[in-house]
Amino acid sequence: MKTLVSPSLLSANFIDLKSEIEMINRSEADWLHMDVMDGVFVPNISFGFPVIAAVGKYCTKPLDVHLMIVQPEKYIRQVAQTGAMMMNVHYEACTHLHRTIQEIHATGMKAGVTLNPSTPVSMLEDIIADVDMVLLMSVNPGFGGQKFIENTIKKVVRLKELIKRSGSHALIEVDGGVQAETAPRLVKAGVDVLVSGSFIFKSTDPLSTISIMKNLPR
Ligand code: DX5
Ligand code: ZN
Repeated sequence: MKTLVSPSLLSANFIDLKSEIEMINRSEADWLHMDVMDGVFVPNISFGFPVIAAVGKYCTKPLDVHLMIVQPEKYIRQVAQTGAMMMNVHYEACTHLHRTIQEIHATGMKAGVTLNPSTPVSMLEDIIADVDMVLLMSVNPGFGGQKFIENTIKKVVRLKELIKRSGSHALIEVDGGVQAETAPRLVKAGVDVLVSGSFIFKSTDPLSTISIMKNLPR
């Protein structure tokens, strides 16, 4: 399988979202990553469900929604109504993660669990068989354009082992500071899905940046 690329809309030009989505539609990107922030779980506020639904109508790629909010279980139905393909919730934000994963699946969406940089992969031991994807944060969530946290590479390797050992089919996605230097190393370490915001949207040729990421040697 080739690496999947999920450009993060957070770094797009919001005054001209239509052109940005047209670029994504024309590109080799597999998904579109959308970050919801509540100013409580993370120290920033981004956009909400009406924006996701509007983008989803125009975008031909499946939506990979990343909720950086407290009590994400309250919004499962609303996320599903936007047409999202994947709903990622933070391990740190879910008291009853197993129930939340089941409720996400009941809507027909795929379920992803996200780990902050300080949360060990071993915390997923008893849920890994139930999730479709694990999203490893390689920066502290809340902002685009931050520096990649090097320890993420080790976490990818440990997560790959856990997935293998448990017979899970979960994909490994990494989000934060994914650029020319870190992307090839992440793919070599076993990452399936690369999220990238500023590196793609601020590049002079986003289409070829996406294409290069998609075709990195695995
Ligand atoms: C950060 C968000 C990311 C962000 C990544 O909290 O979850 O999706 O857009 O941005 P870059 O790729 O610029 O680090
Ligand atoms: Zn994200």
